[in-house]
Amino acid sequence: ILADEGIAILEWYTCYHTRSEQCGCIKPKPFFIEKAAGEYGIEPAASFIMGDHPHDVLTGKELGVQGLYLLSGHGLKHLSEVPYEIPVFHTLGEGAEWLLQHSSPGTSLPEMIAAGAAAIRNGELVAFPTETVYGLGADALNADAAARIFIAKQRPLEDPLIVHIAEKEDIEALVTRLPEKAELLIERFWPGPLTLVLPKSPAVPDIITAGGATVAVRMPAHPVALELIRQARKPVAAPSANLFGKTSPTTAAHVAEQLEGRYAVLIDGGASRVGVESTVLSLVDEIPVILRPGGVTREELEAVVGEVTVKGWSERPAAGERITSPGMLPSHYAPATPMVLVDDAAVYADDPEAAIILREPTTRHFAGSIFILGHGGTMAGAAAMLYQTLRLVDRMDFRLIVAERFPDSGIGAAVNDRLERAAAGTQA
Ligand code: TXA
Ligand code: MG
Repeated sequence: ILADEGIAILEWYTCYHTRSEQCGCIKPKPFFIEKAAGEYGIEPAASFIMGDHPHDVLTGKELGVQGLYLLSGHGLKHLSEVPYEIPVFHTLGEGAEWLLQHSSPGTSLPEMIAAGAAAIRNGELVAFPTETVYGLGADALNADAAARIFIAKQRPLEDPLIVHIAEKEDIEALVTRLPEKAELLIERFWPGPLTLVLPKSPAVPDIITAGGATVAVRMPAHPVALELIRQARKPVAAPSANLFGKTSPTTAAHVAEQLEGRYAVLIDGGASRVGVESTVLSLVDEIPVILRPGGVTREELEAVVGEVTVKGWSERPAAGERITSPGMLPSHYAPATPMVLVDDAAVYADDPEAAIILREPTTRHFAGSIFILGHGGTMAGAAAMLYQTLRLVDRMDFRLIVAERFPDSGIGAAVNDRLERAAAGTQA
């Protein structure tokens, strides 16, 4: 499709020259890119390198070529080595789609960000990428704008929103008190997937906090999100950009699938690389409490502030019950296909109509279809593929989705939490 659009593809180029000149590796070298650029009259600054190894995109970066990183192949294994400014994609197809829509790398994304910032200032909704999942944003200091988020998502007003900021200091205007533990955590984890819950300042409209006395604040690590918030010159309230209770979006296409027509601007910044939402941590009491496990793990938090407790599954309100401790609905993130979460998927080994979601490749036999979240072996890599895989499987008409529980350590706790609530939201 790229060639059909008049886009030249030089995929073979480095391999061909590498072999003929016997340099003994297939890593792209700046020399080859420069040579290709010369021979084909290609302008590096108007070109892209797509690859599933950090070398590919980093070599491109050296020469001013825009890198696109793929999570297929080796991609998941080396994801942590790829700088945040390089967009990532689950598949070659997703990367190619993006390329077709952003074929002038230096301009189209900045234009979308500027349009998004203007829309935020205008009280409209903007869907944008963060490192965790895509958000549906509005001016957090404008109650009418925030109300539009609830309408667009069909979200109950009892469920408060996270306020996103682009500079650490910007939290000061939103809260009445910043305990020392908050400062330590901000220093260590911001920008990043950690949301802090603190007593709210009067500047924050009640609709943001569902009438409560606390506000949730986070500084995302995605460069597109940060630039959007900076240009809007407003804190941006944003829940995940999905219909309430449904699977969260980790690509712009996921957002459009559920919310098309309900926002002014959708900024496509590639796939969200953490893949599960931020950790929501309450600092209201002396001992911090994890209200929602997420991208920053309990172990990482405890290394900075000592004891951290976790709000247990049983303390969360039942579906339909009034939300007293907000946001902890047991049923959430649900696919349309019935789903179960099990310790060992072997229980369903003989079911030909089951989709079996596993963390890593297996030699076990299943009559159904197997979907592997992580080929790279890391739990973070598998988490990055979670919602993408759930959505993919949900479209395929299986009778049942069977997900196997992760180890409960590290980011596995967040993945299990999402799988558990996804399963609770279906009629399996
Ligand atoms: O990673 C994320 O946090 C993403 C991206 C877009 O930043 N956002 C996100 O928002 O997941 P949402 O609305 O889908 O989930 C926010 C969670 C909810 O469970 C909500 O109830 C909780 O945070 N929350 C918000 N404000 C709160 C507060 N004041 N006290 C307790 N929980 C709060
Ligand atoms: Mg959500």
